[in-house]
Amino acid sequence: MSEKPWGGRFESPTNEFVEAFNASIDVDARMYAEDIAGSRAHAKMLTAQGILSHEDCNAILRGLDEILGEINSGEFEFTIALEDVHMNIEARLTDKIGDAGKRLHTARSRNDQVATDTRLYLRRRTVDIMGRIRHLQKVLVLLAEEHAETIMPGFTHLQTAQPVTLGHHLLAYVEMFKRDAGRFADASARMNRCPLGSAALAGTTFPIDRHMTATELGFDGPTDNSLDAVSDRDFIMELLAAASITAVHLSRFSEELILWMSAQFQFVDLPDAFCTGSSIMPQKKNPDMPELVRGKTGRIIGGLVAILTTVKSLPLAYNKDMQEDKASIFDAFDNLEGSLRVFGDMLPGMKVNKSILHAAASSGFATATDLADALVRAGVPFRDAHEIVGKSVAHCIKEGIELHAMDEAACISIDDRLSADMVRALSVESCVAARDHIGGTAPNQVRLQVAAWKKELEI
Ligand code: ARG
Repeated sequence: MSEKPWGGRFESPTNEFVEAFNASIDVDARMYAEDIAGSRAHAKMLTAQGILSHEDCNAILRGLDEILGEINSGEFEFTIALEDVHMNIEARLTDKIGDAGKRLHTARSRNDQVATDTRLYLRRRTVDIMGRIRHLQKVLVLLAEEHAETIMPGFTHLQTAQPVTLGHHLLAYVEMFKRDAGRFADASARMNRCPLGSAALAGTTFPIDRHMTATELGFDGPTDNSLDAVSDRDFIMELLAAASITAVHLSRFSEELILWMSAQFQFVDLPDAFCTGSSIMPQKKNPDMPELVRGKTGRIIGGLVAILTTVKSLPLAYNKDMQEDKASIFDAFDNLEGSLRVFGDMLPGMKVNKSILHAAASSGFATATDLADALVRAGVPFRDAHEIVGKSVAHCIKEGIELHAMDEAACISIDDRLSADMVRALSVESCVAARDHIGGTAPNQVRLQVAAWKKELEI
């Protein structure tokens, strides 16, 4: 028999470089446990259907168990000559048990095998990622609880806008991560159908039981169209989209932490254990972790673009191009999981500089909208109130004072509907406390939201 499991019709050996170029074992070896689980299910089904003898089945199951042990203990030698994880394992099985190993591939193709393995593997990894998201949400909820009353400037256009509470700001990310986890859950549920039995593209001539393999492997059922099943890579696109959006959220958060840790902001200080120094500038403490997380977002989004571009012109059904589907999602999942882990571990050690945050919220006319609202409450139409406060701000900029420092004379000179009482009543505390409605930034609301999140996340 020829060296390659597919070598029968070939007359000359594979070009040496092509052998390496063609191989995917470096990427797909990590799916070995799923490949073995798929083979076990397939062998049991073939036996139940009378296609394989009990004796062969027992030999296959025993052999696969041994191979699993060999791989787990690092003894197993994967070779590029056998291209991928499927053929490496099958060849080893045949080495061990002879003809029974050669019978395993009855009613199966690597095309339905790889589609099955990838789904199984990504299903497991998706659970891990969702666990990491949930952990990070818990960390953020506890921080938000601690900072329900911590006042900071809220920004639009990165210019001081209105005071907000840090707790409220942190809970904004908890919301984003909830939607992210939801996207992973949706994608995972949609991909949970078993392609096994689709064989190369058209199905098989053997009387297989596709429900049995699907159930055995924890799928919700078999896929309904063999051509679709072996060529569908939507699940990779969806998972990469979910990963990209999550990474974008982490990246926005990273950007904020980097800004907040700068000497110009000094809002927070990240723990030493998550920062590094400079080899030349002795004073430096750099926020490398948020920077790296922000950077990794680029390659995760790159993975999404790669799979979309790879699949976009592929005719049905399997094409070798599809072998390129795994490297980018594996890389994206590894990096996303790492990013989530770093954030979950780093944030509990973050020091928050409350007095600087408070001072920053108290400057830059963050209370201007509230002064306009006070005028509206006194009967002034909002557009007039806006104009009056705008003039007041211009006056204060000229005088180098804050709004609440305007005296009665200054108020009257701008507009007689404005009073010193109104400006004196302005405080960042009252600004945040007044926004006490669903979704508002008031400490009261933050506490309510924290309580709801604690219940939802079982903290
Ligand atoms: N290593 C291949 C992949 O990842 C497995 C499927 C190969 N099928 C084939 N007909 N060449 O896509």
